[in-house]
Amino acid sequence: MDLSLYYDDAYAPYTRIPVSEEMRERVTRESKGLLQLVDENKERFLAQLPWEGLRVVELGGGLGGVGLQLARRGAKVTVVDISPNALTVARALAKAEGLEIETLCMDLGRPDAELVGEYDLMIDSHLLHCLPLEPQRLSYLLLVRQHLAPHGIMVGETMVHRKKLFIPPGYMLDQNNILWQMFAKWVPVRKISDSLVLEDELKAAGLNIHFFYYYANYAMAPSPDFWDIPNDILPASVRFALKKA
Ligand SMILES: C[S@@+](CC[C@H](N)C(=O)[O-])C[C@H]1O[C@@H](n2cnc3c(N)ncnc32)[C@H](O)[C@@H]1O
Repeated sequence: MDLSLYYDDAYAPYTRIPVSEEMRERVTRESKGLLQLVDENKERFLAQLPWEGLRVVELGGGLGGVGLQLARRGAKVTVVDISPNALTVARALAKAEGLEIETLCMDLGRPDAELVGEYDLMIDSHLLHCLPLEPQRLSYLLLVRQHLAPHGIMVGETMVHRKKLFIPPGYMLDQNNILWQMFAKWVPVRKISDSLVLEDELKAAGLNIHFFYYYANYAMAPSPDFWDIPNDILPASVRFALKKA
């Protein structure tokens, strides 16, 4: 099972409809939580730099909701995703407002993934938990470290484990907190990390943790029925702000 096709299929319906005000509103609304986190940390760590010309990359950006809003402020935005469909729509959304964003299609969990230059602000747009295997996660975090400007920050929000988790039918959680999904066979799809393990992982990749806290309201819904599940058996989320060690 090639997960890039799975993600690309999920975004295909968006490519069949023209960009509309409704689509723009939806994309903006769905990225509101992450944008708030970005704003807090921009103010905290990069207050001296204007949005105009700020070098920003949204990693696993999908339709590029956060990137689009930062492009409106004049930031120089790159959106990276594994799905060509998602990036086609991200570009169309930007173009419809007369904005330009760069899009890069790649698997960020591969050791040969490449970015160019340095970024002032790197955003993990709910990607890290989509990289379930240790080598993928390490490659990704090392890539981030490599392209983070010396004064730059990496912010993100990611799923972490709870004592008791609801595992929907068709999924299985193994002893390493890797969530597997049954397609024609079991495929690893998410890492619902222990938060202490996650801290160690970030540090081992040469990233200094400046903020790392549990966040009560998960900022995205992976599926429409997500909100019907009691909160205490859903994965928790951690928000973080990191700098180069
Ligand atoms: C959980 S979704 C988040 C989408 C969006 N950023 C948001 O916050 O709503 C994860 C995104 O990462 C992308 N993705 C998954 N695996 C990836 C990989 N290995 N490399 C790059 N992008 C990946 C998916 O296509 C999807 O857009």
